[in-house]
Amino acid sequence: MIGMLKNTVKQAFLRRIAASDRKAFAQRGLDLHGLSPSHWNLNINESGHLEAQGCDLVSLARQYGAPLYVVDRERLARNYRAFYDAFADHYPKVVIGTSYKTNPLPRVISALHECGACAEVISHFELWLALKLGVPGSSIIVNGPGKTREGLELAISHQAKIINIDGLHEIEWIADLMKKYDHRQRVGVRVVTSVGWSAQFGLGIGNGDALKAFQQLRAREQIEPCGIHVHLGTGIRNIETYLKAIKEVLEFARLLKRDLDIDIRYFDFGGGFGVPTVREFSEIDVMLRANNMPVRPLDTEACPDIAEYGKAISALMSQYYPLADPAAPTLIFEPGRAITSSAQMLLLEVLATKAGANGVTNIIANGGKNIAMPTGYEYHELFVASKMNAPRSGRCSVFGPLCHPGDILFKLKKLPDVSAGDILAIMDAGAYFVPNQMNFSNPRPPAVMLQEGKAELIRERESFENIISLDQLQAETGRCDSAAVNQ
Ligand SMILES: Cc1ncc(COP(=O)(O)O)c(C=O)c1O
Repeated sequence: MIGMLKNTVKQAFLRRIAASDRKAFAQRGLDLHGLSPSHWNLNINESGHLEAQGCDLVSLARQYGAPLYVVDRERLARNYRAFYDAFADHYPKVVIGTSYKTNPLPRVISALHECGACAEVISHFELWLALKLGVPGSSIIVNGPGKTREGLELAISHQAKIINIDGLHEIEWIADLMKKYDHRQRVGVRVVTSVGWSAQFGLGIGNGDALKAFQQLRAREQIEPCGIHVHLGTGIRNIETYLKAIKEVLEFARLLKRDLDIDIRYFDFGGGFGVPTVREFSEIDVMLRANNMPVRPLDTEACPDIAEYGKAISALMSQYYPLADPAAPTLIFEPGRAITSSAQMLLLEVLATKAGANGVTNIIANGGKNIAMPTGYEYHELFVASKMNAPRSGRCSVFGPLCHPGDILFKLKKLPDVSAGDILAIMDAGAYFVPNQMNFSNPRPPAVMLQEGKAELIRERESFENIISLDQLQAETGRCDSAAVNQ
């Protein structure tokens, strides 16, 4: 009885939220059901198809086969430039390290290096990849809570730009490894502030662990403690969180100078910057989904422009350091999402549709959670790329092919009438899609890169043979004895 009452109250509460969103969006003349393709500089061509850089995305999907990632190299470069300028317009020394883990497609990473980005790596593999891509050690920032001795040795042997330690145990390891070398290694400490991620990350300023780390680092002859690193989270959509954390970091640096005579020359304020076209689901979104209601619409204006971060963070820095001083510290950022998210989309093909409950159409697409994990916890825009001029006629849910009840990509999205063969475009697939993908019963998709209106294959589709390439099949033939298989 009480449960039923609670449920009725919850439903009424959610309906009120939906109604107030409807009203607010109508007042502002915004489409409640989705964003315009203009947010990604996409056009609609004469065939009513979605088009990027003059390339018909439906034709691309047919040519290369869906699922297919499409990277817009020009947008990638523009996003990088906008990020760099946002800070460099106000601050004299700015270094951007591209977060390898956010989008590990080697050609995406190389494109960003060509724009001038350093590498920000969080694993031995990523460090290896940076070196393989030709990045010198002096342009590699080494982070991560799970560094290995092997990874650290590789970083040290290439004199990494900075190694940001994540725990006290790394000090011993680095000091020990340094005995083989005669240089001094620049080392920073990832700190935890009163806001942002903590748990397994970094060392607290508040509990004295960060200070302890600097005391220990200072005692090591071959270690040059000179950096503070902080990374607050991902998809953050407010400046105040950054300003609060950075102020605590700058106060801590002041204390390090006063008490330990340590000069912090590198302030690495991490990544985490949100983008206008993606929003992490709130608790209310989660409740809406659980109660078979569509999630709240996305308000792109609720996300500050990166230029505003640049202005505010530089202004705060100037309260602590005279910016005209040649000895002013270097500001490092490690954006992932802010640069790569909107420069990549994922095309899927509709395999079938089924009539669902309450007039909802269930769409089965040929890619699911295996390649589009973030749609389960973030708002991403979805277009029917092959029917851009058709009116949104009804509510649809989009499922993948995984034969798993959790393989739901979108719930109750208002879409045009969809049929088998239509091409869907999931937007902002440039951050955390590729690293989160897996071959759950399916090969991983290929990727093409668009530049000057031409598409180039930058990753091939995984073959069935690739999927089992590391497995030891049965000795000799690799085949089962047909007599032993139940028939
Ligand atoms: C240490 C570090 N730097 C940078 C990033 C990139 O974050 P984002 O993609 O939110 O900018 C991450 C992601 O979690 C990270 O852990």
